[in-house]
Amino acid sequence: MAELRVENLHVSVQGKEILRGVNLTMNEGETIALVGPNGHGKSTLLFAIMGHPNYVVTEGSITLDGKDVLSLSVDERSRLGLFLAMQSPSEIPGVNSADFLKAAMNARREKPIPLYAFFSSLQKAYREMGIPFEMSNRNLNEGFSGGEKKKNEILQLKLLEPRFALLDEIDSGLDVDAIGVVSNAIKEEQKKGRGFLVISHYARLYDLIEPSRVAVMVNGRIAVEGGPELAKKIDTQGYEWIKTELGIEIEKEKASVTSIGVCGVKEAIKK
Ligand SMILES: Nc1ncnc2c1ncn2[C@@H]1O[C@H](COP(=O)(O)OP(=O)(O)OP(=O)(O)O)[C@@H](O)[C@H]1O
Ligand SMILES: [Mg+2]
Repeated sequence: MAELRVENLHVSVQGKEILRGVNLTMNEGETIALVGPNGHGKSTLLFAIMGHPNYVVTEGSITLDGKDVLSLSVDERSRLGLFLAMQSPSEIPGVNSADFLKAAMNARREKPIPLYAFFSSLQKAYREMGIPFEMSNRNLNEGFSGGEKKKNEILQLKLLEPRFALLDEIDSGLDVDAIGVVSNAIKEEQKKGRGFLVISHYARLYDLIEPSRVAVMVNGRIAVEGGPELAKKIDTQGYEWIKTELGIEIEKEKASVTSIGVCGVKEAIKK
């Protein structure tokens, strides 16, 4: 079984150390929830795994089945089976969505995908994601609504078939129906044995996709790992218990608000 392993990872952005020794291992077929207060390094971890050039790894390792991921370019990481659905997907003017998807699919194949096979899988993916097929003719993410951008990320996942998918707040900006569509798509992909590392501030998504483990990132480290009950605890209690129970002071210049779940928000407003 494939294994994605992050060991003692230190990452700096613009010379500032954000990740300070992250350890996290995930197996193919497993879904892990990654939670934590705002600004504590969750997106940074995902960017570092995928190879964003602004996120400089100063120490530690990332391996996929023992292979050194850090020595690979972003496209090589993608072809190795890593996929990132970004918190804020970029608009790419001048790049037609269908052309982009075909190029990305062909980059994974020895021979280019036949046109008929491409269009039938494209139509199927758009249909399953509830996105009008006409949008395949628009430039990538250009002028897309927040929810359309998020659904479009999962559409890419369906067509690129990664081994490990990193989803950064895929539920933000989605209406109730769209959360249903996206979580159903994730569940389908879970059945195919893909691994998921899923960042969300809301227990609602986790109730739908049922992660087996929850990792809590505080101050650029995984402060604690546990079962799904940990997401529920944070949803109702916020993060203050990290200090009282674990003795870890949450650095406040990072976390200005407690932001998981409706109840967590209520607690934060009371303070
Ligand atoms: N390009 C950058 N330049 C300067 N600081 C950055 C940059 N990218 C990230 N940071 C800082 O790194 C810290 C961690 O950011 P990150 O996006 O990883 O947080 P997060 O845990 O994903 O938060 P959220 O829950 O709000 O999405 C923040 O203080 C952020 O301002
Ligand atoms: Mg983030």
